[in-house]
Amino acid sequence: MREIHFQTIDSTNTYAKEHKNEFAKDEITCITADEQTSGKGRYQRTWVSPKDAGIYATFYFTLPKTTRQIGSIAQVMALSFAKVLLHLAFKPEIKWPNDVRLKGKKVSGILCEISDSSDFFEFFLGIGINVNMDEQAASQIDQPATSLFIESGIRWNKKELLKRVQDQFTKDLLLFKKEGFTPFHKQLDELLALKGEMVRFHDGANVWEGICHSLSSDGQLNLLLSDNTIQTLSSGDILK
Ligand code: BTN
Repeated sequence: MREIHFQTIDSTNTYAKEHKNEFAKDEITCITADEQTSGKGRYQRTWVSPKDAGIYATFYFTLPKTTRQIGSIAQVMALSFAKVLLHLAFKPEIKWPNDVRLKGKKVSGILCEISDSSDFFEFFLGIGINVNMDEQAASQIDQPATSLFIESGIRWNKKELLKRVQDQFTKDLLLFKKEGFTPFHKQLDELLALKGEMVRFHDGANVWEGICHSLSSDGQLNLLLSDNTIQTLSSGDILK
């Protein structure tokens, strides 16, 4: 894996998109920063990225145009990170589609941007992880947030942690290339947050109410509605 590191940058995703022509097409390039001045989240949100408090990384790689279910790559990354956390004795859950949570609070978010303007798909897969962020900083975030430090009382070595994420994701991407989303489905479904709970879901146009039921075989969210039917949702967010 090729690595590019910055002390300060606006956003590692933005940098990756602007410099994509400089990156090899047959390996992963990982762009990281100690802080981001304009960290980006999903749906034009901001990702709070204070100096040294977290991991801010973008993985650039390509996949052939024939690849199916490219939209589930962010879920593969969420699972890669969740597996790293499980190994470190945390108990992660994944709020659909790809927020990693500890005790109901967000510890990591993923922003996957995809370009199809070449002969292959180009991925700008950004992950932000709250590592050594303290309570005071976490409370400034506009949704319930936590960090590995807050949950464990331990200050984590960001370099070692990033290496674990890189190694796990490299393995998982290889498996995705060979077998698609299927090998990831069961564990993602097992880690699905809010399972069995009544939730509200915003799909951009409508708000759905139902019980968070399961992950469909292709990574969509199954909601159980009050009329006992399953509504499968492919994009949007749980409002909780
Ligand atoms: C979200 O949960 O809304 C997604 C957050 C993604 C944040 C990461 S931090 C590294 C990369 N660079 C960015 O500007 N965003 C992603």
